Amino acid sequence: MRCFILSLSVLAASALCLLPAWGEAPQKIVEIASVDDLVAEINAKVELLGQQTASAEAFAMTVEKKEVNQAAGVVACMAQAIVEHPDKAKAKFHAADLRDAAVLLRAAKTFDDAKKLFAAVKDAHAGKSAGTAKPDAEWNKLTGLGRMMEEVNSRSATIRRGLRRLQKPEETARDCTTLAILALAMEVDTHEVKDPAQLPLWRELAVKYRTEMTAMAKAVRTKDTAKATEHFTSANDACNKCHEKIRDKDK
Ligand code: HEC
Repeated sequence: MRCFILSLSVLAASALCLLPAWGEAPQKIVEIASVDDLVAEINAKVELLGQQTASAEAFAMTVEKKEVNQAAGVVACMAQAIVEHPDKAKAKFHAADLRDAAVLLRAAKTFDDAKKLFAAVKDAHAGKSAGTAKPDAEWNKLTGLGRMMEEVNSRSATIRRGLRRLQKPEETARDCTTLAILALAMEVDTHEVKDPAQLPLWRELAVKYRTEMTAMAKAVRTKDTAKATEHFTSANDACNKCHEKIRDKDK
């Protein structure tokens, strides 16, 4: 019996070692994205959030699909990526403050809330915040999995269109990079995995998705359409496999 308990605790201890360090992303950000890319993505999403919260009517249109939550979740992930980036000084704002403001905005239920919380996001983005937020953040709390999937889905469609003629390689590459960063949050947000035996498969597919999208961004930047398409196809295999083997396992 004692031996059994001992082996159980050894097992528990080794399981703990396998847990990702949630204080930082499971891969170094500098290997995936530049601060310029991250800032450009944040600029675009802050502008979108400004439109979504510009009037009660505009906000009402975002409620059903939780679009404010979705955009703010992207800002939170990109901001945390800047926090963990060696070139973070290139960003003209306190990225950790922006991250926290974006996470708060995600929860806005009413227009009044959204307006107030977006004002804080805007101030932080303009560099007007105190710079007091702590650098550590748990990547699985920055965005919601469902909203992230919506973002992944619509942006994949944009990438697919962009890849056809590759007229704006920088934009398409940045779309790929953004998805690779979101895949960091995907890897550690394992709450949808009901069977613990599937945790390694979840991680493998999230890592595969991130790796392929990172490689695709590079291929797009060098205008190597054939190689970019190869990586895109392989990345999309990860989507399908994860939905089939994990998400829809018991359906
Ligand atoms: C590692 C696993 C995994 C990968 C990779 C993955 N998904 Fe998902 N996806 C899920 C899970 C789990 C859900 C259910 C999430 C929920 O309901 O909160 C989901 C839900 C979705 C949804 C429905 C969103 C909603 O509103 O609930 C869409 C659309 C989607 N995924 C598209 C994609 C696309 C496109 C890709 C690849 C480009 C992808 N997914 C990659 C696991 C994955």
